Amino acid sequence: MTTRYRIALIPGDGIGAEVLPPACAVLDAVGKRHGLTFTYDSFDWSCERYAAEGAMMPADGLDRIRHHDAVLLGAVGWPGVPDHVSLWGLLIPIRRQFRQYVNLRPIKVLEGVPSPLAKATSDVDFVVVRENVEGEYSEIGGRLGRGFPDEMAIQQSVFTRPGVERILDYAFTTAQRRSGDVVSATKSNGIIHTMPFWDELVKEAGDRFPDVTWRQEHIDALVAKVVLDPSRFDVIVGSNLFGDILSDLAAAVAGSIGIAPAANLNPERDHPSMFEPVHGSAPDIAGQGVANPLGAIWSASMMLDHLGHPEAGAEVLDSFASVLATTDVRTRDLGGTAGTKDFTNLVLEGIAGR
Ligand code: NAI
Ligand code: MG
Repeated sequence: MTTRYRIALIPGDGIGAEVLPPACAVLDAVGKRHGLTFTYDSFDWSCERYAAEGAMMPADGLDRIRHHDAVLLGAVGWPGVPDHVSLWGLLIPIRRQFRQYVNLRPIKVLEGVPSPLAKATSDVDFVVVRENVEGEYSEIGGRLGRGFPDEMAIQQSVFTRPGVERILDYAFTTAQRRSGDVVSATKSNGIIHTMPFWDELVKEAGDRFPDVTWRQEHIDALVAKVVLDPSRFDVIVGSNLFGDILSDLAAAVAGSIGIAPAANLNPERDHPSMFEPVHGSAPDIAGQGVANPLGAIWSASMMLDHLGHPEAGAEVLDSFASVLATTDVRTRDLGGTAGTKDFTNLVLEGIAGR
């Protein structure tokens, strides 16, 4: 019996279009072994489209992907189009309209990938759970008096009880499946309304999950600890802004931004979830065939987990981990000379040989 999935592909800009084909090839290969078939519908939503048509995606864009089982995204952003245009014109509407309120970013130091930190060894294995639809990234606010000496800007943060509770529940539930420990990123010493509220709700979540231990750390001290001793963390939960910063820092700790994966999840499954590498469109290397496909491949593995096939997801992880551990084939960001295809082919051979 085969299970069929329809996946919406949004390659986006730059290397986005170079890393999605490897991810699809890996999905097809591992799918074959697990009775899963994927059909892909590709959408050209990008800065290139914006330049030609004045919008990142068509007006009915979200309706065209609403009924897909998942979305795989490459990267969006290109010089000449302001980053807030590309982000708010595509990624943020998808995250918000599809209620993808969890941004999940696993961080692992893989054998064979040197971390810039001497102390980061393969016992570094944690996840950042980032609130993905409210918090500091809000549309509420405005600008006044543009161009005058007294011009001003106001941006409101929005923290709602349901919004904070559901991300905390997700983090604490994730901890129950892992080592049972949550660290909450806060800044309630400096931000005196939203962050004390966040802290209160963390304490309540702690009471709801008596089997999970938790503590809170101020974000400034926390980033220092992630650098100094990343192996002490298991689940870190943070608001939209803190989670964003933490997860990019953590990706760097793991060796390269080219490896890091991310999932934008709608845990209730009312809408499709979206899977995307953490990196951007990398204009400096785009078009050369040298991008590391691992971030996209790992994101595809998270998609398999979400679709209910964790054994297939784990097989993808094992396959690229074993290429890294047993060969010296590396893309340039990891100090090697291999191209995107060379590395992908080794991963595919590994899956075929299982
Ligand atoms: P970037 O992640 O595109 O590149 C940063 C550095 O990492 C570059 O030197 C690049 O060559 C390298 N790099 C990134 N991914 C790589 C990979 N897979 N293999 C090898 N090397 C890789 O970040 P940057 O330069 O700040 O942003 C470029 C554009 O991408 C901007 O327009 C930005 O807005 C956008 N962007 C989009 C994101 C998304 O779609 N979620 C996330 C981050 C940036
Ligand atoms: Mg970021």
